[in-house]
Amino acid sequence: MRNIAILPGDGIGPEIMKQVLRILKAVDAPLTYIEKDAGLTALEKHGSLLPEDTVKTISECGIALKGPITTPVGGGFKSINVLLRQTFDLYANVRPVRNLPGVKTKYENVDLTIVRENTEDLYTGEERQVDADTAESIKRITRKGSERIARYAFNYARLNKRKRVAAVHKANIMKLSDGLFLKVCGEVAKEFPEIEFRDVIIDNCCMQLVIRPEQFDVIVTENLYGDILSDLCAGLVGGLGVVPGANIGKDVAIFEPVHGSAPDIAGQDKANPTALLQSAVLMLRHLGEQDRADRIVNATLKVLAQTDLRTGDLGGKGSTTSFGDAIIAAL
Ligand code: NAI
Ligand code: MG
Repeated sequence: MRNIAILPGDGIGPEIMKQVLRILKAVDAPLTYIEKDAGLTALEKHGSLLPEDTVKTISECGIALKGPITTPVGGGFKSINVLLRQTFDLYANVRPVRNLPGVKTKYENVDLTIVRENTEDLYTGEERQVDADTAESIKRITRKGSERIARYAFNYARLNKRKRVAAVHKANIMKLSDGLFLKVCGEVAKEFPEIEFRDVIIDNCCMQLVIRPEQFDVIVTENLYGDILSDLCAGLVGGLGVVPGANIGKDVAIFEPVHGSAPDIAGQDKANPTALLQSAVLMLRHLGEQDRADRIVNATLKVLAQTDLRTGDLGGKGSTTSFGDAIIAAL
């Protein structure tokens, strides 16, 4: 048995986590679940958004499955997501985006993976008020940060038999910072001669993605562009309810959906658990549990193929709970 830290999080987090844990138990995953608080729930119970005890459990387990955490806009709250990524140096944010058979969208044949740098760029929270009417944010790009994310992306491509890597940037304007990122990606590309490398400027990339998304395979990019592209790409395949993610570091990995805490539907048994469930699938694969991962994927596809069983975001009549029931029945 392997210990896993479970962070249900805020908003829809506890509702979708409940279903995912039922499903993991239904496939007899050899895991022990250690549930800990983080986010607003933790602030109310323990007076801290990220209690010491939660951090300790994650570092002892080395693996966590996490629901979304609400970050209030303004008001001096540091994002717990950013803090977790920094604390455990989870430098690679990996988000596979694929069409789900049965879920009809405007696009077919979308099968790409976003590899987002997760620790630097504009997300370090280094901002300052210059005067009453001026504020600044620091954008920091380093050779070390760029090199390890580029190498991660190319290794990912090699291991997963992907053919192409595109570096997405704005080096035409940010010549030093994005220029460094792009230069380092080009250098790392030379170590992977079998993988085709190209670079795409971020704004053009957005247009290309909505016109012909199938041209993309692995995308490697900086933190901010990766955040925005992830939601855009989720929209290509059915929305935020279906896209999973993994935050990978040297010693710790945290698996979580791309979406947030969805306050508009929280507490109503409406949320789609698919994105968190697919994040759990990525976790199982990371742990070498390929058979159990495949069983869950097959059951999910079976359920999603029946429109009525889906949750409302995918045009169905199902609730969070009934969707969980249907997956368990399909297993
Ligand atoms: P959001 O992703 O929570 O919601 C955007 C839209 O997608 C909403 O209409 C929501 O109902 C829908 N949606 C999201 N997940 C869904 C699901 N599983 N099933 C059905 N519909 C779903 O983004 P928003 O509203 O910008 O952020 C809300 C809060 O979440 C904020 O406090 C934000 O900081 C936080 N957040 C946390 C993340 C994390 O913990 N990793 C990631 C993104 C946002
Ligand atoms: Mg985001």
